[in-house]
Amino acid sequence: MSHSAEQTLQSPEDAARLAKAETVLTPRFYTTDYAAMDRLDVSPIRAEWDAMLAEYEGDNNHDHFQRTPEFAAEVAALSAQWSPQLRRDFQEFLVSSLTSEYSGCVLYNEIQKHVSNPDIKALMRYMTRDESRHANFINQSLKDFGLGVDLVNLKRSKAYTYFKPKYIFYATYLSEKIGYARYITIYRQLERHPELRFHPIFRWFERWCNDEFRHGESFALIMRAQPGLLSGANKLWIRFFLLAVYATMYVRDHTRPWLSEALGMDPSDYDYKVFDITTEISRQVFPLSLDTDHPAFRAGMDRLCSISAAAERAKQRGGLVGRLQQGLCAARAALCFGRLYLLPTLKHELPREMRVAPSW
Ligand SMILES: [Fe+2]
Ligand SMILES: [Fe+2]
Repeated sequence: MSHSAEQTLQSPEDAARLAKAETVLTPRFYTTDYAAMDRLDVSPIRAEWDAMLAEYEGDNNHDHFQRTPEFAAEVAALSAQWSPQLRRDFQEFLVSSLTSEYSGCVLYNEIQKHVSNPDIKALMRYMTRDESRHANFINQSLKDFGLGVDLVNLKRSKAYTYFKPKYIFYATYLSEKIGYARYITIYRQLERHPELRFHPIFRWFERWCNDEFRHGESFALIMRAQPGLLSGANKLWIRFFLLAVYATMYVRDHTRPWLSEALGMDPSDYDYKVFDITTEISRQVFPLSLDTDHPAFRAGMDRLCSISAAAERAKQRGGLVGRLQQGLCAARAALCFGRLYLLPTLKHELPREMRVAPSW
């Protein structure tokens, strides 16, 4: 995924192409089994559920996603100082963040439209509201660079991946909580080092990530209402999704290290900090976590990064040799992933208290 600085996004078409790209590392759009979503029963966790819906109803971020009058001038002044690499990486970061925010928006909205179960319908409506604010807020920042993405067109033309509801719960829970952990870690770093804040959008991250945190809480409650999803053979799925989500993030961040470096963070330190936060939060719902401090885990993650870089070089090379090398890289990556999967995990009892506060 490394390209040269000349391949900066130049037009809305470039941004749309990147948003539509289907690779292992780019955010996807999902569909699911709506009838099964409609049958979800939250009565085992009714008290927590109703308290959560009341928080959504209170909508404490209703006035947050609006740009201040100085926003555009600040962007113009700051971006004049950016290196070409930072410009490219930051614009890609905006497109990939937009795609994942909008992916949530589309999925939650489709579920909302297809179910009549009032609990699920209400939740999905609130989350659609939040994600649509997030996506539109990011899109305004892309428009500053003439790179606004046509979201209606993206919704129509992007490929969709079908996930059973339980996979949606594991994957979406994790991506919401990781989203929280990423945004809060950046926000805290820039609180300590305001001189490194190279774009005003980072000032919005604190209240923004509380939305993501609450979305994660919603999926935690849905899973806690169905204990079968958190035990027995499903533990193997939890392990799989934890590793898939962590590994994707790690490889992606290491293909554009400029972003975390511009924020004064080493990409590996940043990622392990995000893993620590996510792992701690996820004890509310997952009976196991990955031992991300284990030397074999860390070595495996770095190996995945070098395999991904080799695959990119093979792709650039092209031709028969390039294709063979790419196939070899895919096999090595699968083997490496399999070894990481088999590493021992940490086990926990689920706490009686199901909810966690966003205290990082
Ligand atoms: Fe969001
Ligand atoms: Fe979210």
